[in-house]
Amino acid sequence: MEKIPELFAAIYEKATRLVVETYYTEVADEVVSHLKSGLILDLGTGPGYLPIQIAKRAAGISIRGVDLSKRLIRMAQLNALGEGLDNRVRFEIGNASNLRFEDETFDMVLSTGMLHMVKDPVKMLRESYRVLKQGAEAWFYDPAQVSSRANSKKWKESFGLRERMIYALFPLYQRINPSHSYTRTEIDKIISATPFNLTEIEQKGKEFKIKLRKE
Ligand SMILES: C[S@@+](CC[C@H](N)C(=O)[O-])C[C@H]1O[C@@H](n2cnc3c(N)ncnc32)[C@H](O)[C@@H]1O
Repeated sequence: MEKIPELFAAIYEKATRLVVETYYTEVADEVVSHLKSGLILDLGTGPGYLPIQIAKRAAGISIRGVDLSKRLIRMAQLNALGEGLDNRVRFEIGNASNLRFEDETFDMVLSTGMLHMVKDPVKMLRESYRVLKQGAEAWFYDPAQVSSRANSKKWKESFGLRERMIYALFPLYQRINPSHSYTRTEIDKIISATPFNLTEIEQKGKEFKIKLRKE
């Protein structure tokens, strides 16, 4: 299963909201230190907190976010609207492995926490390469630091009755759909099957930060 099931979208959004200040701001700072203006694509954008944090930091940046989940995209659109950023930050349902965008549209491609969920990572990277402009970079952070940094007690305390019932189904979902994380060797193999040049890779435990360039 690639996308976050619609049933879990609301509780996932609550977990990501808890790490806006400790995680997405950090990634956003890194992104705007690399790119001050242009068009960015965020793949598997979820509730859209990363694009919003980036747009808040750089008035010259516009962002498109795509996700397979209709509910998460709706939440992301409302979040951008609530921040008054809906003119520069737009979200739509879409598959990262089969994008509707023209070749060489974007100045940067980003993703937090999507690589390990994608069925065919090589296809997704090739699609990222296609929509990037020459010389532009694609950065993949995987997995996203959501569950590791979220205050899980605070998260669960915020649940209403319906959310508690939904959360009780989570172990069943995990059994059907066990979480996968890549090794460095697997990551290298995936990248070598694409035309990208690897510019930087950082590993902390199971977390990777991968920076690729379209030369
Ligand atoms: C772990 S979540 C991360 C969401 C968000 N980037 C964040 O940091 O909170 C992974 C997201 O990728 C989406 N996703 C998985 N496969 C996808 C694909 N092929 N195309 C678009 N979105 C995808 C899922 O629906 C989910 O919202």
